[in-house]
Amino acid sequence: DEWSIDYEPSGGFESLRRAAIELASTDTPVAFPTETVYGLGADATRSSAVRAIFAAKGRPADNPLIVHVHSIPQLRELLGRSDSSDPIPEIYKPLIRKFWPGPLTIILPSPKDSILAPEVTAGLSTFGARMPRSILALALIKLAGVPLAAPSANASTRPSPTAAEHVKDDLHGLIRTIIDGGPCEVGVESTVVDGLSYPPTILRPGGVTIEQLRECPGWEGVVGYKDSPEKRTRPKAPGMKYRHYSPKATVVLYEAGTALPNAQGILEQVANHTSIGIIRTKGWPLALGLSIDWNNGLAQQKNGVPKSMPIAKRTLLENDNKKESGISNLLRSVIQHQTPHPEHFTLEKGVNSPIDLWDVDLGTQIDGVARGLFSTLRELDKKGVEVIFVEGIDDRNGGDIAAAVMNRLRKAAEVKI
Ligand code: TXA
Ligand code: MG
Repeated sequence: DEWSIDYEPSGGFESLRRAAIELASTDTPVAFPTETVYGLGADATRSSAVRAIFAAKGRPADNPLIVHVHSIPQLRELLGRSDSSDPIPEIYKPLIRKFWPGPLTIILPSPKDSILAPEVTAGLSTFGARMPRSILALALIKLAGVPLAAPSANASTRPSPTAAEHVKDDLHGLIRTIIDGGPCEVGVESTVVDGLSYPPTILRPGGVTIEQLRECPGWEGVVGYKDSPEKRTRPKAPGMKYRHYSPKATVVLYEAGTALPNAQGILEQVANHTSIGIIRTKGWPLALGLSIDWNNGLAQQKNGVPKSMPIAKRTLLENDNKKESGISNLLRSVIQHQTPHPEHFTLEKGVNSPIDLWDVDLGTQIDGVARGLFSTLRELDKKGVEVIFVEGIDDRNGGDIAAAVMNRLRKAAEVKI
């Protein structure tokens, strides 16, 4: 088998060494864990290797890649020689001190004689750089001896991979090696910032929050990223214009505080579906009750079924040994279920048209929501759901990574409510 995922902890260093050799001696990219999402890495100084990343992902060539470094001296090499002074722009120094290694990407000027392959920057005069804090990532970059260009290791448009298995699902047959570091700690990508223009700007919200950035000298006035429904003509981070983070299912996103709709609002949306997913965060345990009542309404309206008929029948799947039935038990078990794995129910929509309902509770902690989001979208896809209703979280205070979560969800969603 051409394929290798290295699960062997004791083989850790050996597999990193082999991966480094593969990076140096072939053009095939290697997938590796970072604290944010898995990356698909290649020698950033070699065009043929960088082009192979774009090919494996199916990524548009005008979307530049982030360059990953393991040390500050390695970053300086990318900035070229400046006779006496440090080539790292002053504005970034407090950020580097505070957030590196970590989920922050900074935009830097490319020198004329840059050692980076031109494909990395997609024709821009700048490049993005970050030092990840995953020890496996740092070790791999160091062993490779070159900076690694690495986008997220998903097929283009799919949700970013937060486990080795996700990479395998997307890129099987296209790459040879995935370093398995287990599930990612952060779960959403790095924050991309531009400190070269004034005022400094967030180009993509991510693992470092706007509140944390504002604590740094020179960054008090950093401008946040605004998700906007209209298409911007020329997004500053080219990647932000593409359809992204999308499962196969249609995502219907409810902004924070919007109740899961009752009968009328949702009738058409579900009418044609037999399998739906619900991703809940805070307020919907209650609303799910409404949706079950509402289902009764739907059954009545569509089929004229009497109100007293049993409207929810739980199908026991997936090691579920609780032999419970009835709505209150069903709701209790849903509310207690804290892990991001779907629970399965069959709701009787009408006599002959059951709805498969996959219910996921990501919990009330924002960090947990971020960690579980992409894997849940992928998991629901595997269950074959046609539509996913997602309960959004409040992203207005800036103190947590809700902005990153909602940014990804708004991009994934086809319907926004
Ligand atoms: O957490 C992360 O950043 C992950 C891990 C693997 O490090 N990487 C990642 O890469 O998310 P990617 O390629 O999926 O997203 C890179 C983003 C894109 O939105 C791209 O347009 C932007 O960074 N970007 C890269 N270089 C840029 C530049 N010179 N100017 C503006 N935006 C840039
Ligand atoms: Mg990506």
